[in-house]
Amino acid sequence: MKNLQKLTTASLFAFVYTLLLPVLLACALVTAVRSAAQAPVPDSPALEAKARAMVARLTLEQKIEMIGGAECGTHSMPSIGLPCFRMSDGPVGVRTFGPTTAYPAGVSLAATWNPELMRREGEDLGKDARARGVHFLLGPGVNIARSPRTGRNFEYFSEDPYLTSVMDVAYIQGVQSQGVIATVKHYAINNQEFNRHNASSDADERTMREIYLPAFEAAVIKGHVDAVMNSYNQVNGVHATQNDFLNLKVLKGEWGFKGILMSDWDATYDAVGPANNGLDLEMPSPKFMNVQNLVPAVHAGLVKESTLDDKVLRIIRTALRYGFLDRPQFDPSDSTYSVSDRAVALEGALESITLLKNQGHLLPLDPAKIKTIAVIGPNAYPAVTGGGGSSLTTAFEPVSTVTGIANLLGPRVSVLYNRGLPESVDFFQQTNWAGGIKAETFPSSDFTGTPIISSPRFIADWRPDTRGPEQQTPRSIRYTTAFKSGKAGKYLLLAAGANEDVRKVFVDGKQLVADRLIDGHTPQAWPLDLSEGQTVNVVAEYLPHDSVNHFALGIAYEPDLISADARQMAAAADVVVVAVGFERYSEGEGHDRTFTLPWGEDVLIEAMAAANPHTIVTVTGGVGTDTRRWLSKVAALLQIYYPGQEGGTAVADVLFGKQNPEGKLPVTFDNSWTDSASYPYFYPVKGADTSLHVTETDGHKVDYVIEHINYGDRLMVGYRYWTTTGKHPLYPFGFGLSYTTFSFSNLKVPTEAASGSTVEVSFDVTNTGKVAGAEVTQLYVSDPSAKIDRPERELKGFEKVRLAPGETKHVTLNLDARAFSYWDTPAHKWTIDPGKFVIRVGDSSEDTPLHADLTLN
Ligand code: BGC
Repeated sequence: MKNLQKLTTASLFAFVYTLLLPVLLACALVTAVRSAAQAPVPDSPALEAKARAMVARLTLEQKIEMIGGAECGTHSMPSIGLPCFRMSDGPVGVRTFGPTTAYPAGVSLAATWNPELMRREGEDLGKDARARGVHFLLGPGVNIARSPRTGRNFEYFSEDPYLTSVMDVAYIQGVQSQGVIATVKHYAINNQEFNRHNASSDADERTMREIYLPAFEAAVIKGHVDAVMNSYNQVNGVHATQNDFLNLKVLKGEWGFKGILMSDWDATYDAVGPANNGLDLEMPSPKFMNVQNLVPAVHAGLVKESTLDDKVLRIIRTALRYGFLDRPQFDPSDSTYSVSDRAVALEGALESITLLKNQGHLLPLDPAKIKTIAVIGPNAYPAVTGGGGSSLTTAFEPVSTVTGIANLLGPRVSVLYNRGLPESVDFFQQTNWAGGIKAETFPSSDFTGTPIISSPRFIADWRPDTRGPEQQTPRSIRYTTAFKSGKAGKYLLLAAGANEDVRKVFVDGKQLVADRLIDGHTPQAWPLDLSEGQTVNVVAEYLPHDSVNHFALGIAYEPDLISADARQMAAAADVVVVAVGFERYSEGEGHDRTFTLPWGEDVLIEAMAAANPHTIVTVTGGVGTDTRRWLSKVAALLQIYYPGQEGGTAVADVLFGKQNPEGKLPVTFDNSWTDSASYPYFYPVKGADTSLHVTETDGHKVDYVIEHINYGDRLMVGYRYWTTTGKHPLYPFGFGLSYTTFSFSNLKVPTEAASGSTVEVSFDVTNTGKVAGAEVTQLYVSDPSAKIDRPERELKGFEKVRLAPGETKHVTLNLDARAFSYWDTPAHKWTIDPGKFVIRVGDSSEDTPLHADLTLN
């Protein structure tokens, strides 16, 4: 026995030394290297003195050079030992240096309502940045989803400032914990892409303070973000990059921001204005804040040298706090391709997918009962990981809906795929114009002069003007043709072009297509009702704004759009998944988007639903879309936002119940665009356009036509509008179905409390169904006795709770003074009107079964 024991002890030692010790040592090493992640240290007198001494060693010219972007991001300054600090776009992946992990978009992460997950994703983004030697990550994007038309909603989080703030703080803390600077953007009131350099967001101060600024305020005060990016637009007639109110008064003054305020790329329009109004770093290059402009400005007393010192000091101080001069930013212990990143990306996608309709409990599907599944639609394959523009990453191995479903089901089940609709290029080339086309290209921008006449076979002109910028002549093109219908019924007229171009399409003399579209390059459709054999005259006038022609026009009979193969597959399958929605060309940076689905997709859904009653629709998109034509005809609807590279796996897991859906809408889904609170206020105010004359650095005069966007919807954004008016949207903010059910009970709210004190609210939530699931408990505050009008209710707390069947958890949420306050503009402060408040708890902005009154003294 003793011998055996000896042997066992000896072998244990041997095991520890030979096998376990190396593993333990390796782990310790990894931890040591990992702890080299180096979160920034706080500022200190010694660090400040060192930074100031470095600034003092610079000449005026060198200081000016340092406040303009260069090389890899910032300008290096070898004389004081400063390298260039590298920047990469976020916000949903470190996108600038080759393939990377494509995480779910901001709106997806907001739909998880899970700040802990957001923080982990932030950490992974930080590690991805370190693996590429990146110092600045250009994210998060925190602008408010004011309108469903906004092209970049998907990059941002939500329509609600509280939800956005909680998520952005978690993102920033995660990224910065890895020794990488997060850059919160786009500061501020940047809620449309249309004419983004020249639109002025005209909002009153209370609207800004209560809706559009809190996410930035939280980023600075709670998240301690070290970089902020100014937006392109003007705010109340002054560009953000030179806006005294935004930059000096609020950001650097009231919020005490000590980090770096950079411009968006080419978002500067002057030298002295930004220099004196808070901008620290002009990106991507010193277009205006350069030696040529600022040295004379300093000598003329227009800009103080101490103002420039402060900008340089901010850059150096931040670099010292992050240890950028003492350690390499490239950290080889962080993988470029990381399996754990994939796992986090999958978690984000799984927790975000939001089930909006599930008629007759069709979902979850039972894999054992399915022999054939049809996966149809433009978004079924390849994977749509993100929207368009600077956030779009190249993912290593994106999983499409088709491949995700096939992977889950295995070889036993037949997975049928078809795009369902033609590519738009085929649509244009296959239009059968009656009697040919006459194309007149005029040597002017107003259809005057002697035109060159040609007779193309189709209208699809994507040619660049090859003469080069110097020789380019103005041109305008008129197409005259006709279309003869076959069967009577609904036809689709499709027009494509760049959003700055002017185009007009007349059908039998009636103008159908607006002069200027604000919805991007994607082709857009207009319905035509034609009788059998009807001939209509079609005239299109096209005015390109730059050197490339971007114009295409076609007409097709709607039912003919749908592929016969897709119809056959849908009819043969046990269940059909129709994957539709937006993608990089129809929703993205630089243009706004349509409220309707991209062309043909409504018709595709209808056709699939007609072929198979078990039709499930998945919609990719930042926010809501027009479902009116088909929602009642389909069995189930899933909003999948932009789920990142693991989206296909997540969709399959939700469809087949491996994941119980737990996403909740971070934005209200309106019935129609005209129902949206932003509808009357989204377009520029007619007649309020003004021109701004700017002299470019090369001496050319440039005219910017400023268009004023009146934020007349004020605080009535999203659910604030719906709950205040008592009307009902299609799906309310915070809504999302589950495969189980929950109930709320036992609300505890003090009947009285002192104004300004923290109020504790608690309640129970129970899983009343048969499967495990997660519920997002939401707390809304109403202030019926306020002296001024306030939104009927506002989100002020939430917590996601995981529950086994039958399980109950007690949730406690604390409400601080801000939860009860409004911005009092005359008094210039956050104010609580003592009196009655109502606390409501539930699972959406409209479904709040618990409520109790509270009096603040
Ligand atoms: C975008 C920013 C982005 C920058 C750099 C701009 O066009 O608005 O969000 O960070 O480009 O790519």
